[in-house]
Amino acid sequence: MKRALITGINGMDGSHLADLLLTKGYEVYGMERRSSSKNRTNTGHLEGRVTFVNGDLTDQNSLVRVLRESDPDEVYNLGAQSFVGESWNTPEQTGDVTGMGCLRMLEAIREYGKDVKFYQASTSEMFGKMVENPANENTPFYPRSPYGVAKLYAHWMTKNYRESYDMFNVSGILFNHESERRGIEFVTRKITDGVAKIYLGYEDHIRLGNLDSRRDWGYSPDYVECMWLMLQQDKPEDFVIATGKSHSIRDFLDVAFNCVGIDDWSNYVVQDERYMRPAEIDVLCGDSTKAREILDWYPKTAFQEMVSRMVKKDVGLLSD
Ligand code: NAP
Ligand code: GDD
Repeated sequence: MKRALITGINGMDGSHLADLLLTKGYEVYGMERRSSSKNRTNTGHLEGRVTFVNGDLTDQNSLVRVLRESDPDEVYNLGAQSFVGESWNTPEQTGDVTGMGCLRMLEAIREYGKDVKFYQASTSEMFGKMVENPANENTPFYPRSPYGVAKLYAHWMTKNYRESYDMFNVSGILFNHESERRGIEFVTRKITDGVAKIYLGYEDHIRLGNLDSRRDWGYSPDYVECMWLMLQQDKPEDFVIATGKSHSIRDFLDVAFNCVGIDDWSNYVVQDERYMRPAEIDVLCGDSTKAREILDWYPKTAFQEMVSRMVKKDVGLLSD
């Protein structure tokens, strides 16, 4: 039986990946930070099936201990300060967790000395102000946020350790992906939660920032599958994972409000300067031809279907 260690187990992707690996017969270890109140909203259903281990990406020794406890064949490094907007408020902490955290895990694995396959959660934020549209594995990077810069450091470290120490390290350069388990601070979930509240009469508007930026949005359960696929290859390689279609925040609003029978949302959305960013990425769009050809991976869930599932889930949660 294979053993996998997932950092960021309680996050959106961590929980979906654990679901997937359990169906494949893995013994799954999930790393979480110690906190006064555990946030297992996404992972409550995994208690008893996943072994939760305490560790922090800012603490080298804790990573060494976690590796000893889990003795993994595969490590998926999904832990991060992952909210782009917050990275301008806490650039140093973001660099520490999101950038240095990856280096610490690579060092811990190197010292551990056994053959461990390593997955790094790289991101389309590294393409930032895209110099080529759609972006592929050869497109130059131009990050636009402290988060994007930290992720780029982690990305290059992953590659550098692969080349320096012959480690099986891969980076999945994933474009935006969402699900019913998305954190409430991200625009998609903020919208679906807001739409549900308006539909149920709890609120009368949603406050948002830039409505014109465009993102290439896929569905998280589809995307975690390619993380696993990348570690099953004979040779370690990086892959771009995307749908190839971009939608604006306005498009997302159209579909989300439509799910509750509202065609014109203009009276329900207020633009608020507080949610504007010091540097914005106007558009992100990816070309995942390489993943299709080598991993036989393609996105299965359409944009409209994903938005509709998120709205339904939020209406259900608030109606309970
Ligand atoms: P998420 O829901 O924000 O989950 C991130 C997880 O990291 C959380 O469980 C968090 O734990 C954990 N974490 C934060 N600081 C940590 C620390 N110091 N030590 C250990 N763990 C820590 O993110 P996600 O959307 O699932 O994304 C998963 C990964 O993919 C992230 O690295 C993200 O940057 C990257 N990524 C995401 C997307 C996307 O569109 N979702 C696209 C490309 C790449 P707490 O619960 O304790 O806060
Ligand atoms: N969060 C948020 N809140 N974003 C808003 C809002 C708002 O009220 N109003 C408009 N936006 C715009 C942002 O300015 C941005 O252009 C877009 O919505 C998406 O913002 P987020 O949902 O916060 O996601 P992100 O694209 O910045 O980052 C996500 O995707 C990256 C991959 O490209 C995160 O999951 C990152 O961790 C991930 O790496």
